[in-house]
Amino acid sequence: MRLFILLCSMYTPQDEKRLYEQAKYLLKQDGENAEEIMVQLHDVINYADWKYYVQNQPTLSDSEYDALFKKLVHLEEKNPELVAADSPTQRVAKGLSERFPTVSHLVPMLSLDNTYNADDLTDWDRRCRELAGTDDIEYCVEPKYDGAGISLIYDNGALARGATRGDGVMGEEVTTNIRQIRAIPLSAAFLKYGVKQIEIRGEIVIHKKVFDAFNKQRVAEGLSPLANPRNAASGTLRILDPSEVRKRGLNALLYHISSYTLTEGASRPAELATHYDALKLLYSLGFPSPAPDMKVFTHIEDVIKYCHDFEGRRDDLPFEVDGLVIKVNDFAMQDKMGATSHHPRWAVAYKFKARQATSKLSDVDFQVGRTGAITPVAKIEPVHIGGVTVTSVSLFNEDVIREKDLRIGDTVLVERAGDVIPYIVKPLAELRDGSEREIVFPTHCPACESKLERQPEEAAWRCININCPVQLAEHIIHYVSKDAMDIRGLGAANVQKFYDLDILKDIPGIYHIDWSKLKGLEGFGEKSITNLQQAIEQSKRQPLNRLIFGLGIRFVGETTAKTLANSVSDVREFYTWDADRLSTLEDIGPKVASSVVDFFAREENREVIKKLGDAGVNLLNEHKGESAADGELAGKSFLFTGTLSHFKRSDAEKMVEDKGGSILGGVSAKLNYLVVGEDAGSKLEKAKKLGTVNILTEQEFLALVN
Ligand code: IVH
Repeated sequence: MRLFILLCSMYTPQDEKRLYEQAKYLLKQDGENAEEIMVQLHDVINYADWKYYVQNQPTLSDSEYDALFKKLVHLEEKNPELVAADSPTQRVAKGLSERFPTVSHLVPMLSLDNTYNADDLTDWDRRCRELAGTDDIEYCVEPKYDGAGISLIYDNGALARGATRGDGVMGEEVTTNIRQIRAIPLSAAFLKYGVKQIEIRGEIVIHKKVFDAFNKQRVAEGLSPLANPRNAASGTLRILDPSEVRKRGLNALLYHISSYTLTEGASRPAELATHYDALKLLYSLGFPSPAPDMKVFTHIEDVIKYCHDFEGRRDDLPFEVDGLVIKVNDFAMQDKMGATSHHPRWAVAYKFKARQATSKLSDVDFQVGRTGAITPVAKIEPVHIGGVTVTSVSLFNEDVIREKDLRIGDTVLVERAGDVIPYIVKPLAELRDGSEREIVFPTHCPACESKLERQPEEAAWRCININCPVQLAEHIIHYVSKDAMDIRGLGAANVQKFYDLDILKDIPGIYHIDWSKLKGLEGFGEKSITNLQQAIEQSKRQPLNRLIFGLGIRFVGETTAKTLANSVSDVREFYTWDADRLSTLEDIGPKVASSVVDFFAREENREVIKKLGDAGVNLLNEHKGESAADGELAGKSFLFTGTLSHFKRSDAEKMVEDKGGSILGGVSAKLNYLVVGEDAGSKLEKAKKLGTVNILTEQEFLALVN
């Protein structure tokens, strides 16, 4: 087996340090020499895009990135003759296209043959050896991305055309939308390798996190959510408004070079002799390719073992994979083996177990959320999908029910993709026997009986009774949740229990719980009460953005809460802010601004804030106007190793990043701190050997960050 030990990256560590420093420097520049600054901005923005989309390690905060981008736009407006065709600003499309022209692919885009088990793979390996006329075959194994297939053509190093797969022979030309995808370089140094024109194939994907956040936002805005990351990716490619495409944060993985021509007199570069080297080349030129996730094997038994192991880890990847693709590594051997009209003979997909199953829709519950929105939830007969048993699935709103024509008693197709929430794809209408019943949406709140209302532009029906008991409990549940004030031990079930028992009636009540009422309550021994008291106490010191998010202001998500918190020294300053002033803040539009104004204008909300302050909850932001890069750990890099017992690795990493530090993937001279848990192994050894890394215990780390 051959592993990628050294992956040549687009940038050396020295480049990375320089570009990061350059970014900070450029932010402060007023600019005498526009041309030079423009070139530097161009480099820095491309670097930030590559770090974010290809490496999945953001270096700059959103506001730093935007400031650099705006600066470049400004300089280009002043100096139009200096605008480069591959400037990052040129991704931003000027207008809306009417439709997408049909184009033919240079080489047909074939599909893949599928295998499902060890026997299938063993058969395929036997056929490969017969076709290749040798037993000496190297197989590359890489993820099979579940997205939308695309073809990219680069002419003389510049992105010239992007097209969807279509029927494999003809696709739709979507270059303008492809240019919005910041993972895809607008230009690359192909000419250096003597490559004049090249067609690259790959998949447009959307990260599961981005997809979930996007859907949450849609539902909050009263729109229907998109079905799954795959549909979201392919649908987005065909949106007519490129600025909307840009907002959706698509990503890409490029896994195949389908054809290329050389410049006159050039001979084929050594990098284009094997698939493995070709993808490594793409990666080194800045493309997102599977190179870091790729393995090479010489025996099918090892491929099979790897496939089994990988299937168990599929949820660890940030995007959806529905299998692995096994490819003969040597291009000359691939050519010899050829293709059918449907698929190449030198490649095969190993498909993971399906994440779809059918079940029966037995009933629909109607739940009242924090904002009063009524969510229909389908109760289905228990069905096992992707390692969990699914019994209820959100239907989001009435429109979803009507669009899909769902009925009680229907057999439904349910999909659950990894950590993406389960979803009803469609009813199987052909299995209906006439006994199915219409789903009747309630006209009154299931909790307080008030009449429900629906705004013309919204998909949600709402209960607008401010004293609706379910909404009150939901407010508290949101306040204590992990992304808000993070009060562990006071999860949804306990809040509801406390609420029903009159122990907790509103948010400030959290800080005045009558602990004697908990005596004898199941699940509340002395130890858990002490832990809960500690968690409540700790929440008083949470940063202001978490409090603002926890207050549950409509349309204020985590990012907006950070923007808001960063603009004041004390949350009560918002009492005097009007919508115009709020609209000057980044990413705050009129809808959010008016919701924030309404919230802080209400006497009962001010009363809640006052009570929280009186209880000792932090209402201040001492770091007003600072961004993470200016934080206490700015410029410091960390790595965690071994079994950590005092905190979760993801939480600790977030702590570092919140304070402006960065997380590295391995021990190197660039690493400042290695935090070691129990049974730390080779990383600790390496750090000791280097002698330049500060080695911290978990306690020392906590002391440092606090
Ligand atoms: S190779 C001739 N590699 O899966 C080359 N395809 O089900 C054929 N896909 O049409 C494609 N990940 O859209 C290849 N690593 C990967 C892939 C991949 C996803 C898609 C591709 C293909 C489909 C077949």
